[in-house]
Formats: sequence, C-alpha cells, structure tokens
Amino acid sequence: MRIGFVQFGPVFGEKQINFISVETLLEGCKADLIVLPELFATGYAFQSKEEAASHSEVPGEETSLFLKHIAGICNATIVAGFIERENTDLYNSAMMVDTSGIIGIYRKLPLFTKENLWFSPGNRVPRVFKVKGVKVGIMICFDWIFPETCRTLALGGAQIVAHPSNLVLPWAQQAMITRCLENRVFAVTANRIGREQRGEDDFTFTGQSQVTGVRGEVLTLADDDTACVLMAGIDPEQATDKSVNQYNNLFADRRNNFYIL
Ligand code: ACM
Repeated sequence: MRIGFVQFGPVFGEKQINFISVETLLEGCKADLIVLPELFATGYAFQSKEEAASHSEVPGEETSLFLKHIAGICNATIVAGFIERENTDLYNSAMMVDTSGIIGIYRKLPLFTKENLWFSPGNRVPRVFKVKGVKVGIMICFDWIFPETCRTLALGGAQIVAHPSNLVLPWAQQAMITRCLENRVFAVTANRIGREQRGEDDFTFTGQSQVTGVRGEVLTLADDDTACVLMAGIDPEQATDKSVNQYNNLFADRRNNFYIL
C-alpha cells in the first residue's frame, strides 16, 4: 500500500490558491492514501469566530468537491483538514474523501490555544474507516499529546492513523514514534510549513511531515521548509498482530483495573 502526505504552506484565506498548490504538487502522484495538513485550504491564525465562520463549510461544499477531484486524479483516498460548520458551531475537522465523496469526518477533540475561541471541541468518538480493505483512523495535530486518541483508534482496529497537522511545538514528530510503537499502527503526519502572522499571533509551523512505521521507524521524513509530496510503501498487515513477544501483547497486557481514565 502506498501512503503519504502533501506538505506545503497554505496562503491564509485563499482556498483557490491552496487548491492549485495541492493539485500542482500531486501531479503524477498515484497512491492509496494521501494526507493533507490540518485546515489546508484556509490557513490557521483566525482572529475571530466570524472570520473562521467565513471560511467554514457544511460537508459537501467546495473543499470536499476539490478533494473528490484529486482523489480521482491520484486514484487515492484523501484525508484533509477543514472548518466544519453545523448550525452556529464550528469544528476543526478532517474529512476522508474518495471518488464517491465523503467517507467520514473526525472533529478534533483537544483544541489548541485560541482554537478554543472559535471552534467547539469535537463531540464524537473517533471512528475507523476502510480504505481498500485497510482500517484507517483520523486524529488532528494536538491529538499527538493525548495518547488516548491514538489508542482509541488502535483499539477500534485502525491499522493506519491519518494525522493532518499544523504543528508549532517541537515534540510531535518524536511523540508519533511512541504513538505508533505503543499501538503498533502506522501514522501519516501531514504538517504544514511557513509562518502566519496575524494580529498578535505569530506561528511558525515545523514541517517535518513523516510516515511512521509500526515499530516506531520513520519511513519517510520531509524537511522543515520544503513543499513536497512524499510516500512510503507499507504492509498494513504488520499492524494487526499486537504481540510483542511470546508473553506480551500491547492490548491484552493492559491492566485496566488499575488505570484512571
Ligand atoms: C495544533 O493543534 N494545531 C497545534
């Protein structure tokens, strides 16, 4: 299975320009699963809920139509971040799209800094979706620091975790090695690059998008400032057996009577 990411620097508020950037980068790319960054079409540093709302979409609108279009070109399933609107609530969401349309949506559970001012925290249990018979879950960016999201996906059967991101802290890529190792899953962390200065906010995004293997091996790693598409060839079956050795199993050995949830 070929899985990978698009890393690039979205232009704030310019969906059409960002769509063209992604389509240009993906020219000639054929894959099974392609992950785009969190909020890839809109940018990140909103200054008010009204501003975020002006870039939001009800599922089925222009971002999902664009993703459906590139799914066809790349023969792939795409996972990508967008601002989801439901009534007056906005969610920092990611959708999975193939040529038939939207397969599933994840609403980011832990909101980072000022995201709390415009987005509502996710209100749905993370789900796992099938991509060519392989189980794929979605988490978004700051989920990396809460082991529960990745664990929930892994317990739900995820073999691959798609991880659209706008990372600004220096630890996530290293932490994803542990998330993959402790759950025996693959992960595709699709991060953005560039800097966004808006109002008092000044974010520099860390790039270094990576595909991580089930033993914590970094299979593909981008640098911190280059727009690129990178892929890895994986065998998703490696994610199904959770045994560590003859005596130990990542799931069966959990001592749930003694953990505080
Ligand atoms: C983040 O969750 N965008 C850091």
